[in-house]
Amino acid sequence: MAETFDISLDSLAKPSVAPGDRTNTGTAVSPSDGGTFFLETFGCQMNDHDSEKVAGVLLSRGYRQVESPDSASLVLYNTCSIREKAAQKVFSRLGEYRTKQAAGQIIGVLGCVAQQEGEEIFERAPWVSLVCGSASYRKLPELLSQLEAGNQRVTGLDTDTDETFETPVTRRDNPWRAYLTIIEGCDKACAYCVVPYTRGPERSRASDSVLREVRELANLGYSEVQLLGQTVNSYADSSPRKMRFSDLLLAVADVPGIRRVRFTTSHPRDFGADIVAALEIQPKLCNHVHLPVQSGSTRVLRAMTRTYTRDEYVEKIAMLRGAKREIAITTDIIVGFPGETEDDFAETLGLLEEIRYDALFSFKYSPRPNTPSLSMPDAISEIEKSRRLTILQETQREIQSQRNATLVGNTFEILVSGKSRRENQWSGHTACHRVVNFASQQRELLGTYVQVRVTGAGPNSLVGEQVT
Ligand code: 5AD
Ligand code: SF4
Repeated sequence: MAETFDISLDSLAKPSVAPGDRTNTGTAVSPSDGGTFFLETFGCQMNDHDSEKVAGVLLSRGYRQVESPDSASLVLYNTCSIREKAAQKVFSRLGEYRTKQAAGQIIGVLGCVAQQEGEEIFERAPWVSLVCGSASYRKLPELLSQLEAGNQRVTGLDTDTDETFETPVTRRDNPWRAYLTIIEGCDKACAYCVVPYTRGPERSRASDSVLREVRELANLGYSEVQLLGQTVNSYADSSPRKMRFSDLLLAVADVPGIRRVRFTTSHPRDFGADIVAALEIQPKLCNHVHLPVQSGSTRVLRAMTRTYTRDEYVEKIAMLRGAKREIAITTDIIVGFPGETEDDFAETLGLLEEIRYDALFSFKYSPRPNTPSLSMPDAISEIEKSRRLTILQETQREIQSQRNATLVGNTFEILVSGKSRRENQWSGHTACHRVVNFASQQRELLGTYVQVRVTGAGPNSLVGEQVT
């Protein structure tokens, strides 16, 4: 989404350190001198939303966001370390900006690489001044005060927190759909995953605080909200109300002005019949569930400590397929986990044919620091991982082509979020999370809901025309 949501922030400008208060030598950022920030985000939707909150914190201190690192006094990278490639990107970015500090700019590393590498980042990139993991973002205003006062090396690296990152101002990038984190961290300890180390233990927000924010969002004109969490359906209301996740979904959908509610990512272990029942009775809950399986082999699932067998997972899918509304199902799969045999991989391909997912996110296993699978025997070669990934993706591409072809002739409601350079061409998402590119003669459709009849289908998107 390239659109931006501009709010007037003049009234919020509030530098915390008066210019005369700075006693430390060295470079200092100063919002009162017209401080500017550039923020680049890598990784998942949780990171995208964290960046929106970080931007809110900075804007409320009087900083102005700029589009290029060259014109920023503060350059921030919100990083991802889920796979090695993502983590490497950060260091190559930092390499590009080694000259910035000399030019008086302050460089900061946020997010999962910050948490994972900690103060080592100062060793590898001595021109960095701020290192802050996502579990410490609540400290960000304090860390910024230290930077503004001229401190050269500032860190926030705790993970033993029971607090979540809530801010009075969030600068949202999309004017119609708002992200909202309801649970942070992860307690599941999958053998391959860094998240429990980088984002800390599960912490849920209180349901009344979530609902208050949804009401505010609806008043600001947002019609779609997406509830976020690494294991969103493991939500455990931290208030005495003790709302179940499914009750929270229904309560969010009841907020006047809200037309669509999404949630991601669900963990199969905590995916119960009550969530399916909520999806059945409340059409504002989008008919799409992202339910990562990771592997079709019970043996591999056990090695991954995923806490369910293939059959137990398939039962959850049967529950979704048995719902009164048709529900789109998408998943994540890792190929080449240590010890994955040809037979294990064949079971994963068999699962794709059995379930026929609407979309798939697939990854080659990437060994990550601190994780139990790092020391597991029988690593699969990179060549073999690539071979399996290609077969998996080709299998899924064919399934998606076939599934999407059955949708030709159907009419869907689309939230229009994009306008093509080609005249009269627009795009948006269905409730079942398919991208539809469509033609309409109308002059302004962004942010509106329209009915679109599907006239063609490819593996990754649909084409259609507006029905008036
Ligand atoms: N290697 C490859 N893929 C991984 N994922 C998480 N950790 C790893 C890893 N070490 C994938 C999982 C998860 C998605 C967000 O990223 O499929 O669901
Ligand atoms: Fe990682 Fe597993 Fe937690 Fe998902 S459930 S964030 S894969 S540890």
